[in-house]
Amino acid sequence: MEILIDSANIKEIIRLSDLYPIDGVTTNPTIISKEKEPFLPLVQDIQRHIGNEKMLHVQTLSTTANDIVNEALHLTNQLDGNVYVKIPVIPEGIKAMRMLHQEEVKLTATAVITPLQALMAAKAGAHYVAPYVNRVSNLSVDGTQVVEEIVNLFNTYKLSTKVLGASFKNVDQIKQVALKGSHAITASPDMIDAMQEHLLTEWSVDQFSSDWQMAFGEKTFIK
Ligand code: G3P
Repeated sequence: MEILIDSANIKEIIRLSDLYPIDGVTTNPTIISKEKEPFLPLVQDIQRHIGNEKMLHVQTLSTTANDIVNEALHLTNQLDGNVYVKIPVIPEGIKAMRMLHQEEVKLTATAVITPLQALMAAKAGAHYVAPYVNRVSNLSVDGTQVVEEIVNLFNTYKLSTKVLGASFKNVDQIKQVALKGSHAITASPDMIDAMQEHLLTEWSVDQFSSDWQMAFGEKTFIK
């Protein structure tokens, strides 16, 4: 399962990429606006830090197909590397995806709430679809179930589009979508940390260290 960072915070992107096998970064206008920096230099800076191989998913803002296409082409002109243009699955977004697919632009369909939206986006040429797990769960519908249904639909119809689970508020949601076959997830830095950190693991490591020090008076094997 691919793991992406859902953030535009350079420090966090550097820190997490140093620790973990990160496959890329996803952003959206809300995430970008939190950094209070000009849009294009910021995404170019993210790209510089992650390199040309890791994925960078950048979202369009317009709501009509022609404007979305223009924004998407502008983005792909300004950014090198492994760029995916994220487009929300509104009807005009689907139209834009179909147009951009002809231009061979790599696409991520975003703000996916239902399996049928995902199916339509896949048919329109999206390489990834991003179901919003927690936002769906807030509607009293299990968001992880929606991910499972999309995975099943793509398998049934032999579609190569990947599912990129997004919008997580706890690690159990991430575990559930991993078990249900999500090809990828994107999560905020605190969620990625929470996937790995565990008090009992920390406690065990402290115990190894203190036992060793008691016996040998050293903190490492190598002096
Ligand atoms: O990548 C999708 C995401 O940014 C939406 O997440 O946490 O705002 O629901 P959230």
